[in-house]
Amino acid sequence: MEKQKLWGGRFTGATDPVMEKFNASIQIDKRMWREDLQGSKAYVRAIQKVGLVSEEECQSILSGLEKVGEEWESGTFDIKDSDEDIHTANERRLKELIGSAASKLHTGRSRNDQVSTDMRLWMKNALLVLKTELQTFVTVILNRAKQEMDVLMPGYTHLQRAQPIRWSHWLLSYGWMLKRDLERLQGLQTRVSSLTLGSGALAGNPFPIDRTSLASDLGFLDISGNSLDAVSDRDFVAEFLFWASMVGTHLSRWAEDLILYSSKEFGFVTLADAYSTGSSLMPQKKNADSLELIRGKAGRMFGHCSGFLMTLKGIPSTYNKDLQEDKEAMFDVYDTLLGVVKVAIGVLSTLQIDADKMRQALSPEMLATDIAYYLVRKGIPFREAHGLSGMCVALAEKKKCSLSELTLQDFRSVSEQCTEDILSIWDYEKSVDQYSVYGGTGKTSVTAQIENLEAWLNQSDLLQ
Ligand code: ARG
Repeated sequence: MEKQKLWGGRFTGATDPVMEKFNASIQIDKRMWREDLQGSKAYVRAIQKVGLVSEEECQSILSGLEKVGEEWESGTFDIKDSDEDIHTANERRLKELIGSAASKLHTGRSRNDQVSTDMRLWMKNALLVLKTELQTFVTVILNRAKQEMDVLMPGYTHLQRAQPIRWSHWLLSYGWMLKRDLERLQGLQTRVSSLTLGSGALAGNPFPIDRTSLASDLGFLDISGNSLDAVSDRDFVAEFLFWASMVGTHLSRWAEDLILYSSKEFGFVTLADAYSTGSSLMPQKKNADSLELIRGKAGRMFGHCSGFLMTLKGIPSTYNKDLQEDKEAMFDVYDTLLGVVKVAIGVLSTLQIDADKMRQALSPEMLATDIAYYLVRKGIPFREAHGLSGMCVALAEKKKCSLSELTLQDFRSVSEQCTEDILSIWDYEKSVDQYSVYGGTGKTSVTAQIENLEAWLNQSDLLQ
């Protein structure tokens, strides 16, 4: 029975079924069947060019691999207990279909360079999908930011009302985070796009295969420079897990903001029914489950990231079976992030805002800084102006009135520099628009932000 295994030659005893199950990764890595066949097709062409298989054998292997692919595609591929992983399964089936020529396919190759190649091929496509979804999300942000430019809301620090801002400014703040994420993704795409096939088990490939043309056959930009590194390197997986965790963290904070803003206490936004759920007990409830899940799943992705780094940290060079843990993390994080971004797009493109509620949440106290700036413009040093503004706040508290109800006399009792025009401070639009320096919440700078982010998005020709 052991003779049936790819590596069974030197074994006399059978594998314990418990061990066989423990060792197998097929149920997880079968997801890469397409990439495994793609790698094998390119490899057989490479070894044919150096005469390791004849043209006829090469054609037979290629058409056999094609048939294996058809079986996967149609769901008729029959996984056997002895199929340890996708590589063994495909090769076993190829042999059944075409006979002995199949035995030449693996010449000079190892599952160690094969698995890394398959994963890199798989990830290259996966990253493109995620890139497109993230770009769509940024587009939704930009569209809303343009349409709802004139909506003002409180900006918060420490979750306390701080200064009035434009709702668009809040929206765009996440656009910039995602821009950085997309830029980080571009770096990751470059590093993933390196051919590791041709590294053998660890020492390299003893036959004069042309790795450069193998790389271009498979769409890789580069070829790995050291076979030991190539078979042990899982940086690209760790980097992907971190990258996804970072995107997940940004979207988790975004979700948390909207969870708060959608509560009755804030009432700034209402989620579409399509992204909310009800309570089985309390009929009045409309819960922001979509956003809570986005927040929750960030933890799951980071869990995979920290878990996999823990797996990597102690293993000696080069390939060790610990590395097999990489795929579960990679697939799960991909599925999770894709779901997160898709739902985020849905939530943001359908939610309704209540501009009046946002406006009502602004209070004159939020313009206390503006009193300080007013005094600065009259020539008073900022620290002193800050203290004087604080005295105005204290005075209003003492008089049990709002800051905006203080009279000119009240202001003048605090500072002689106050004149009639201080009474026109209570204009939120004017307040917001003083932040016109690029990066601020003033209309001109928010417009410039939109233009810049849009220009970047249109020209962001990330790697394919
Ligand atoms: N299923 C294995 C993995 O995912 C493939 C590589 C196995 N290599 C080996 N020498 N056992 O890591």
